[in-house]
Amino acid sequence: MLSVKYLGHACFAATDGAKTVIIDPFLTGNPLAPVSSEQVKADAILLTHGHGDHIGDGIDIAKRNDTLVVAPYELASYCQFQGCRVHPMHIGGCHEFDFGRVKLTQAVHGSGLVSDGQITCLGNPCGFLLHMGGKTMYHAGDTGLFGDMHLIGDLNTIGLAALPIGDNFTMGIDDAVIGAQWLHPAVVVPMHYDTFDVIKANAEEFARKLSELNVKCVVLKPGEEIEVR
Ligand code: NI
Ligand code: MN
Repeated sequence: MLSVKYLGHACFAATDGAKTVIIDPFLTGNPLAPVSSEQVKADAILLTHGHGDHIGDGIDIAKRNDTLVVAPYELASYCQFQGCRVHPMHIGGCHEFDFGRVKLTQAVHGSGLVSDGQITCLGNPCGFLLHMGGKTMYHAGDTGLFGDMHLIGDLNTIGLAALPIGDNFTMGIDDAVIGAQWLHPAVVVPMHYDTFDVIKANAEEFARKLSELNVKCVVLKPGEEIEVR
């Protein structure tokens, strides 16, 4: 069994009942976050890229609980320099952890961390295929639509696909509808919208467009959970 809780923006906590993995824990500074970073307990933290709304509280949570950080090499190295225990990976690579299997997928986006008037480029951004509890979740990361989503859908049986719909920085609704058809997951969950004005999007419109194409979409409010089938 795999249960996935939406923690707002691009943050999800996935559990098989024994282990919990959290992806992109942006809680502090997220007006829609349903929990604080202190309330988060995880066996691993997966980070898609170095933007502040994805690294978020990741380094703090990892250091406080000695939680393993899994990320693309450059971002993992950065987290290691900050005192985290890390497991670096890269796009196309797969690794079996004690909580499950993680494969990094491409994401068409950036990965520069902006702080103190400087940009630290942290390599390529990624998405994750997380296989846990006998089910597979695809977290697309921040990305525009790309043709290989077709391939990701054909090569994997995806139980849940988390896709950005907020536009401006990522896919908007119409591109995400195309991506969802290519991925043909059991369920699509929209993410990366409404957190800020510039990424306001109508998730119900997204769900309606998908249902017209016989693709199941569940709009999770921050704090809501779904079991992956
Ligand atoms: Ni980003
Ligand atoms: Mn983002």
